[in-house]
Amino acid sequence: MPTQAPRVVLGVAGGIAAYKSCEILRALTESGLHVDVVPTPAVLEFVGAATFEALSGNPVSTGVFSDIASVRHVRLGQQADLVVIAPATADLIARLANGRADDLLTSTMLVTRAPVLIAPAMHTEMWQHPATQANIATLRSRGITVLGPAHGRLTGKDTGPGRLAEPAEIYRMARLLLETGTAVPYDMSGVRVVVTAGGTRELLDPVRFLTNRSSGKQGWALAEVAAARGADVTLISANVERVAPAGVLVQRVQTALELEEATLAAAAEAEIVVMAAAVSDFRPTVRHDSKIKKTDAEPDQISLTKNPDILVGLVAARAEGRLSGRPTIVGFAAETGDAQHTVEEYGRQKLARKGCDFIVVNDVGAGGAFENDDNAGLILGADGTSAVVPHGSKHRVASQIWDAVR
Ligand code: CTP
Repeated sequence: MPTQAPRVVLGVAGGIAAYKSCEILRALTESGLHVDVVPTPAVLEFVGAATFEALSGNPVSTGVFSDIASVRHVRLGQQADLVVIAPATADLIARLANGRADDLLTSTMLVTRAPVLIAPAMHTEMWQHPATQANIATLRSRGITVLGPAHGRLTGKDTGPGRLAEPAEIYRMARLLLETGTAVPYDMSGVRVVVTAGGTRELLDPVRFLTNRSSGKQGWALAEVAAARGADVTLISANVERVAPAGVLVQRVQTALELEEATLAAAAEAEIVVMAAAVSDFRPTVRHDSKIKKTDAEPDQISLTKNPDILVGLVAARAEGRLSGRPTIVGFAAETGDAQHTVEEYGRQKLARKGCDFIVVNDVGAGGAFENDDNAGLILGADGTSAVVPHGSKHRVASQIWDAVR
């Protein structure tokens, strides 16, 4: 028997960012979810109901007086596996905080017991107003996950916090809530974390480099989840072409030496540092300033120089008192088992060798964690603890890593 697709209510409130809800809607439906769009009446001034109906394949109404026979707000609320509201305006947030039921969306919200994700978008002053901040705190205390807003260009010429998080990021966070069936806890408020991500490029000349297959997805997922949990996140990212997640300060680097400098500087005040970057162990000894030309002669051999081990350097810097925040330090290891040792044994050996507090071990024997959206592994603690990370999205793995190390 075919299993039923999970049901998502996509609430849309009446702000200019409402047009971006179409992109979120498309991502949700294309991944096989059943989506009911519930706009507030004001939204239809920005986006037509026909657009929502065509993209979702389901009817759209804004009030409780349409389709009365099915008591739509009760049915939608009870059947939902997830509610996503994007954008959420200051007015809608206020109405939700007060438990109002003056349109179909707010009525549905009182009925549902599904996890709820809201992505606010409004002008900076409205976002920072004590009334809005108090309402957001109320929603968080009720277990609603709040994503963003991001810092960036707003309607008109202004720039500041208030921009809707990127549709792709809202989609990824929505998938996490569906996967776990619960909200993302707001339990890392103000915790300063540094995450490294991506694969370094070691330059041979201006157009050639050595690199590896790291996509950066696990490190970016760690940053996105930590920010949603309230942490103050610096993401040091090597060669990942993506828009900064909401609430994350992204520092972009290229080489292992640049990554080392940025990481040591950011780690000084951090409480947790996670080294998810795939750092190239070697770099070309000579970096040519201009492109190496092809000639009739055989090419020169490329000689390599060892890069510093940044993780080991962090542990040493902490021991020498150079990191005032005395951070918990977390490494990653990609391992395969063999006739002599299991993946866990190799992981423990690496944990001891590196001297960090935790190591997240990915079993890459069966095809690897690189480039995939999913991951699995073990979190080994220097105190002898070990937690299995079952197969799941990199966002879910990220949640489990934060549960273990925070
Ligand atoms: N790492 C680092 N600096 C390096 C190499 C690795 O900080 N120059 C960090 C990675 O970010 C990761 C951890 O060390 O958190 C494990 O990396 P890995 O390359 O698996 O470790 P190696 O010591 O190089 O072990 P192996 O010989 O198994 O590759």
